[in-house]
Amino acid sequence: MSYQYIIAENDAQGIFTITINQEKKLNALSAPLLAELSQAIDHARNDAAVKALILTGAGNKAFVAGADITEFLALDVAGGKALAQRGQDEVFSKIEQFPKPVVAAVNGFALGGGCELAMACHLRIASHNAKFGQPEVKLGLIPGYGGTQRLVQLIGKGKAMELLLTADMIDAAEALRLGLVNAVAASSEELLPACKKMLEKIIDKAPIALAQIIDSVNAHFDVSRDGFAAEVAAFGKCFGTADFKEGVTAFLEKRPAVFKGE
Ligand code: COA
Repeated sequence: MSYQYIIAENDAQGIFTITINQEKKLNALSAPLLAELSQAIDHARNDAAVKALILTGAGNKAFVAGADITEFLALDVAGGKALAQRGQDEVFSKIEQFPKPVVAAVNGFALGGGCELAMACHLRIASHNAKFGQPEVKLGLIPGYGGTQRLVQLIGKGKAMELLLTADMIDAAEALRLGLVNAVAASSEELLPACKKMLEKIIDKAPIALAQIIDSVNAHFDVSRDGFAAEVAAFGKCFGTADFKEGVTAFLEKRPAVFKGE
């Protein structure tokens, strides 16, 4: 598939990388860009050759510097609501609920929608020069792509409230300290290899079990679900898989398991 605003490519290991490719605009999320992102996510979900996803931005300056501010002045109350709802449904929630592991490779500014995009991913690795923040309040706005919710989930209410109300930016070291990122790469060159290294530890595990872990963890934050009940159902589901039989047999035979996602 070819795209205008993003680059999407799968590697030999099945690690599918989506690069937001609007470097001159610091990879700001315009409506057509979000539509392509949504399509690429659907493609990666349905392609059995894809085992995991990396989301990153083009260049070394920005991951994503937010929603495209040039689109805002044309919007009224209904337009603002529709923008947030569409983004949440078609991109941000889809990433969070993606049944294969998703890592954000945060290669610079992750502001507003950029910080929200990173937070929707299952894991985050930042480059040494990454900067995080939710500066919407400076525009007379608030986050609309889940920022008020996922920031609280990741770093707790007190610090989330501070970052949201002050619009302060934090660096990669502070993001690591707060638990906003899982790791920091020492240089821009080491960022994607660090993401791939983390994913390599994950993608040789049983794919159905990985999907069930993602879903069970997400259930904790979904008020319409009982997380413990979701875990019980997911645990049971794993016992019906060929991969479970392979995993246990391989352990008893003292050999590495070979999982097929069945
Ligand atoms: N939407 C649209 N365009 C954006 C953008 C955004 N969110 N963020 C940056 N850009 C554009 C700039 O307008 C500029 O375009 P130009 O070259 O045509 O003038 C270009 O990207 C480079 O940005 P610039 O501001 O010149 O870079 P900088 O190094 O001086 O500052 C930032 C970098 C990230 C601090 C600054 O761009 C910024 O504050 N961006 C907005 C962040 C934000 O409020 N995000 C939340 C949106 S809801």
